[in-house]
Amino acid sequence: MKLGRNDPCWCGSGKKYKTCHRAFDEKIEEYRLRGAKVPDHKLIKTPFQIEKIKESAKINVAVLDEVAEKIRIGMSTEEIDRIVYDTTTKMGGIPAPLHYQGYPKSVCTSLNDQVCHGIPAEDIILKDGDIVNVDCSTNLNGYFSDSSRMFMLGDVEEKTRRLVEVTKESMEKGLEATKPWGFLGDMGQAVHDHAYANGYTIVREIGGHGVGLEFHEDPWVGYHSKAGTEMLLVPGVMFTIEPMVNMGKVEIYMDDKNGWTTYTQDGLPSAQWEIQVLVTEDGAEVISW
Ligand code: MF3
Ligand code: CO
Repeated sequence: MKLGRNDPCWCGSGKKYKTCHRAFDEKIEEYRLRGAKVPDHKLIKTPFQIEKIKESAKINVAVLDEVAEKIRIGMSTEEIDRIVYDTTTKMGGIPAPLHYQGYPKSVCTSLNDQVCHGIPAEDIILKDGDIVNVDCSTNLNGYFSDSSRMFMLGDVEEKTRRLVEVTKESMEKGLEATKPWGFLGDMGQAVHDHAYANGYTIVREIGGHGVGLEFHEDPWVGYHSKAGTEMLLVPGVMFTIEPMVNMGKVEIYMDDKNGWTTYTQDGLPSAQWEIQVLVTEDGAEVISW
């Protein structure tokens, strides 16, 4: 699929390849020849695709805003699921988790020592002192968005509050380290170092992912990688930063009764924030939060 100099550019600009992305592609090729992992064109979003993904994200953000407004002590996580389903579908989207690999609900609601993939249920009631991650993902006309936030209910213990705050800061450090012509590992190490400097651990087995044209795309995004390693970041690459930060030990286990919900082994709380970011010409843009 080699484009000629005068062929229309793959990015959809309508310009000739030689005056559009040819130098860009050559720069990537130089990195590849020097041994770097580089993104192929499938992972580099075109301006058209970016617009479509942003429309999807507009719904995702609105859904999380709606949850933020309505969440309260005494509410069941099933009620959160209904808010997510109703708000998403009213705006023309489909909750991406629903029936994804057999997942039964529209959203993940992970409480306290649940690391991720908590399944909403009528008999799970939010109580004073709980922390909960609400993880929303939207499919709008085949374009995907994905982000999650933590909510603290009532009187949350100081040390748990701190976990939630440091987790958010870690995600933000990762965002700051996300730059064109840098590496995914720059982001991973920034997230890692902040969490570990605060005495926490980050789950190894589950991470972020490319996103946009599919719910989960390459690359896999971990937080135990070193700066200067992993995939080269170039404008148009899109992925999630979503560290799961444990107050205690790093080990986790999955509930094999439902095949989804993951817990900390030591029973201590875990927090997670997730943003969807686009690598731009001069840094990174948050697409969904
Ligand atoms: N939203 C999760 C993520 O951040 C994925 C959940 S998969 C589901 O990648 F099926 F549980 F929804
Ligand atoms: Co995600």
